[in-house]
Amino acid sequence: MTDIEIQLENVTKTYSGGATSVTALTETSLSIAKGEFVVIVGPSGCGKTTLLRMIAGLIKPTSGEIKIRNKPLWVKNAKSTEAVGELGFVFQQANLLPWRSVAGNIALPLELRGVGRRERGKRAEELAELVGLKGFENASPHELSGGMAQRAAIARALSNQPSILLMDEPFGALDVMTRDAMNQELQQIWLDLRPTIVLVTHSIPESVFLADRVISLAPRPGRIVDIKDIHFPRPRTPETERSSEFQSHIGQLRGLLDSHSKTGKQRV
Ligand SMILES: Nc1ncnc2c1ncn2[C@@H]1O[C@H](COP(=O)(O)OP(=O)(O)O)[C@@H](O)[C@H]1O
Ligand SMILES: [Mg+2]
Repeated sequence: MTDIEIQLENVTKTYSGGATSVTALTETSLSIAKGEFVVIVGPSGCGKTTLLRMIAGLIKPTSGEIKIRNKPLWVKNAKSTEAVGELGFVFQQANLLPWRSVAGNIALPLELRGVGRRERGKRAEELAELVGLKGFENASPHELSGGMAQRAAIARALSNQPSILLMDEPFGALDVMTRDAMNQELQQIWLDLRPTIVLVTHSIPESVFLADRVISLAPRPGRIVDIKDIHFPRPRTPETERSSEFQSHIGQLRGLLDSHSKTGKQRV
């Protein structure tokens, strides 16, 4: 039996404030296996970020339960300390501290945990190499391109050796060429380290390229409308993307998301 790393059981999140309340995600159940690469797609406002933030324990479900390695993430109003620290989070913007070097940014989570300077330096160097930033350890964030800054953010998220890596549209702000390169590199990092990855994207080709499973969400209220297994062998290559099976997956996912959006303008 496969190990389950993340489990959602009937999770609903309603944001309420003032006169209005918004149900961002409703009655959602999902199990993600250890080491699995799951990609979440869907139009804006369908609850993707909410889902990721709940898995990270940054917000609490209104109802339902989230378990990390079979342990409830929340016990009453307290977050389980066991689950905390096992997570890395990458956002659309790299959010590097401008006054710190690349290595200083990568090693920040280690510093917060009290890891000594020498060990931090060593780990930062290894991580910089892993994400393709070797030689840039002493550079300043303003010297980096968008793709390089995002690599630094990925290295920072990996510095605590998390078993779960959550990524919210990590390449959404990058140009297409850089994005393709980053997809290749992310795949390689995943093959090397085998974290459990949950990645959110607007790009259907990106989802099919990266995922073991593509989870499609639809809005109003946010919910899972489809789960698709993607079986291409790894490492996947540009050739994989040119195959008719790859194109057929993309066609199916676009059709599905179109059918759930009234105007069809959400197409990506
Ligand atoms: N902090 C918040 N307060 C109120 N409503 C929110 C908040 N965050 C998100 N929402 C609403 O919840 C829904 C889902 O948002 P979100 O999870 O950000 O979707 P996505 O990431 O798919 O674009 C949207 O209608 C959004 O306006
Ligand atoms: Mg979002």
